[in-house]
Amino acid sequence: MSAKNITIPQNENILNQVAGFRDAINKKHELEASGTDFTEQRGQVRKSVEGLHPKRLNLRVSEIVTDTRSTKTLRLVSTDGRRLPPFQAGQYVNLFVTVQGTATARPYAISSSPSNLEYYDLTVKKLDTGFVSIYLVDEVTVGQEFQSTGPMGTFHYNPLFHGDDLVFLAGGSGIAPAISMLRIILDRKQSLRFHFVYNNSLEDDVIFAQELRAIAAEHDNFTLTELVSRPTSQYEGLRGHVSLELLQELLPNAERKMYYICGPTPFNDHCLALLAQMNVRSRRILVEGNGPPRNPDELPGWPAEASVKDTVNISVRGGGEFTATVGEPLLNSLERNGYGTENACRSGECSLCRVKVRSGKVYNPPEALIRKSDKRFGWVHSCVAFPVSDVEIQI
Ligand code: FES
Repeated sequence: MSAKNITIPQNENILNQVAGFRDAINKKHELEASGTDFTEQRGQVRKSVEGLHPKRLNLRVSEIVTDTRSTKTLRLVSTDGRRLPPFQAGQYVNLFVTVQGTATARPYAISSSPSNLEYYDLTVKKLDTGFVSIYLVDEVTVGQEFQSTGPMGTFHYNPLFHGDDLVFLAGGSGIAPAISMLRIILDRKQSLRFHFVYNNSLEDDVIFAQELRAIAAEHDNFTLTELVSRPTSQYEGLRGHVSLELLQELLPNAERKMYYICGPTPFNDHCLALLAQMNVRSRRILVEGNGPPRNPDELPGWPAEASVKDTVNISVRGGGEFTATVGEPLLNSLERNGYGTENACRSGECSLCRVKVRSGKVYNPPEALIRKSDKRFGWVHSCVAFPVSDVEIQI
């Protein structure tokens, strides 16, 4: 195809907000000016795509900031000193780590702005029952190196479909994608309204508190509502959880706005139920998955005879077997026993961690987005799959 046949999009203003679009248009103009035939560029496209969407990134911790008593932000730069690939605010990278001899990975939303690709910030909250989060917060030091996937995920603002009135409902460390969105809105001086409702357990848990409050004071298009569910007696702000009354008061014309929800799974489910009561259509809501369910035995369809404390035998076709706890996601027990499989979201969405169940029973929660054909042939998403009997699997 010659350069003359390429149509310049009519509405460049909207597309300018898409990462990489401006670079692509500039390159096209440059090639047109030099009379280049695009067929001569064969191979370059693949190279460009791989540059923008690399499978793996090599990263080094350049700085660590303590945000709260349980949260730190790790600033990661490329080990080769180059700029990192562009991303959409709200996307995550899956960070590969080895903790206590187990090679595993966890997805973390990038909290820095996509306008600065010198680094990615990952904001990590230490969970009481955590494995990787405790390691990242307590043990990682500046200079340490990691691999990650490239930026991934569909939880981000889409300028073509999401309108200009955005609401973000966040719980705890669910603020990470929200602050990235807010930062890019400010960096690009976008004329978007951004309502941020932020729920935490304790007032000391509020991440980026000063930055949020300063932005709210300075920008009319940003509204901040903070809630603390277990405050001290001195706390003077709003108490409790996100409620129907609160959302109705904060959000007139609720059904016309675009919603992003990110927090622990019970928080996400609670917010979804409230928005349904407010007649918000599901296409106006994006929810970010947040790892496997902590209490799978409380979910619909869990077999009554199975206890999360039971142990079962997992045999892997082609060699090896091990004992696993029913209440632990299959991917975690596979990793603990030295069986790696590709993975990214660890929330049942991306399907990279698929394994085939040859025999036995595995419980998949409703959040596992398994394709019909996969269901038919026994494939499960191992990151959210729980073996409720002895099983044989194929990786
Ligand atoms: S890692 Fe994405 S579905 Fe399991």
